[in-house]
Amino acid sequence: MSRGGPLRGRRVLITAGPTREHLDPVRFLSNPSSGRMGYALAEEAAARGARVMLVSGPTALEDPAGVEIERVTSAAEMLAACRRRFTACDVLVAVAAVADFRPVRRYGEKQRKESIGLTLELEPTTDIVATLAAEKGDRFVVGFAAETTDLLDSAAAKMERKRLDLIVANDVSDPAVGFASADNRVVILGPDGFRVELGPAPKRSIAGGIWDAIASRL
Ligand code: C5P
Repeated sequence: MSRGGPLRGRRVLITAGPTREHLDPVRFLSNPSSGRMGYALAEEAAARGARVMLVSGPTALEDPAGVEIERVTSAAEMLAACRRRFTACDVLVAVAAVADFRPVRRYGEKQRKESIGLTLELEPTTDIVATLAAEKGDRFVVGFAAETTDLLDSAAAKMERKRLDLIVANDVSDPAVGFASADNRVVILGPDGFRVELGPAPKRSIAGGIWDAIASRL
């Protein structure tokens, strides 16, 4: 698909990477997401002529070419950045591996290990894609589901619960694909029995297949 294709001029918002939920300035809860899948989707959308806004958690990746990027740390910052941009977008693709919990208390100074104790009180973070999808109007919202068991059933349930237009299911029990690896293998599900399997293939090629699927449904 070229620059003249269905993504041309569309405003696309993508979340990528992990979030970090700090306990103090040097300790946090996070996960091994590299950001590669989200960045590949951003680059591929830009190459197809979309106007791309990328809201990224901490990653070691360079800013993708031709993409507006805002770097954030926590789930709360990611939600705030996405809220500011959501009304001006046509498509949201939520790839970020947002931390599900954060410490109830965040200290401004590094704590001595003796003073923290061995029990950490946690609270849930806000579900970014579900929050935005609840107010989506005619925007198209895509989520990801990384699972190690019951991949397709869990993904389908998640799509319905979060009011998504498509969900990209990703089996992260296989270390050769998913999360921090260069390759991926996914199944894309839609509400009406729509189903596309992609890979195993490099994440940029998977990104192309995901945009083909999205474009076919816009
Ligand atoms: O519920 P689960 O974390 O498996 O859902 C994954 C999907 O939801 C992904 O699209 C992810 O980006 C999104 N998500 C989110 N905010 C959260 C948790 C997940 O946007 N707090």
